Amino acid sequence: MHANLEAFVAVLKDIPPKDVVSAFAWGHSWVRGEPFRVHRLVASNKIQSLKGNHDEAAGLDLPLGIFNPIAGKAMQWTRNALKREERDWLLNLPYQLSLPEHRMTLYHANGFEPEGWEYIHGKDDASLALTMRDQRTPLVFIGHTHFPAAYGMGPNGKPLDIFRSSFRLLDDTRYVINVGSIGQPRDGNPQACYVVYDTATKTIDFIRLDYPVAQAQEKLSRPSSPKCWPTDF
Ligand SMILES: [Fe+2]
Repeated sequence: MHANLEAFVAVLKDIPPKDVVSAFAWGHSWVRGEPFRVHRLVASNKIQSLKGNHDEAAGLDLPLGIFNPIAGKAMQWTRNALKREERDWLLNLPYQLSLPEHRMTLYHANGFEPEGWEYIHGKDDASLALTMRDQRTPLVFIGHTHFPAAYGMGPNGKPLDIFRSSFRLLDDTRYVINVGSIGQPRDGNPQACYVVYDTATKTIDFIRLDYPVAQAQEKLSRPSSPKCWPTDF
């Protein structure tokens, strides 16, 4: 969610808490924006978190020279904004979460090498084929690209782009669902994006929400902000 407080609050208000059995964040909770307030909301709502590549970079002491100049500047700002114990907390987040009772696994980037951060960009992506071949559960959720997407692999073994705003899972098909991004969507739609999976009806719903974008942008223009939004590291 890239520490985007306005987008995160909009999503939390949209989800009826009594209906939520488990809630998950796919990483990138800490970089830029308002990391402390976003983290407090993650903790108080008992949202389980995965480690993203930005979170790992903020936690490690890698030299800034390995980033491009804009990304390095944002990373320096983030490291300075965090205490050592908060950076350690980030480093100790898991690369994956498994829920065998629901036959699903969650990764930040992909399922075949979660700590390598390789992207899945479409149905012909080799990373998608590898993830689908190696995935131990029929259902996998990912993030990382900030593009909502849904791929399926039926009995014929061919990956298919099956993205729709709402659909029901089939028993004989494996799935990789990209949940998009709450705080920094990159699909041309500025609305926050999150996914609801109903384990009883086996339906996937992609939800898009308006949030006060201008308010979030204004905070980024303040002197204390890193004044940059690198697309990635
Ligand atoms: Fe990422």
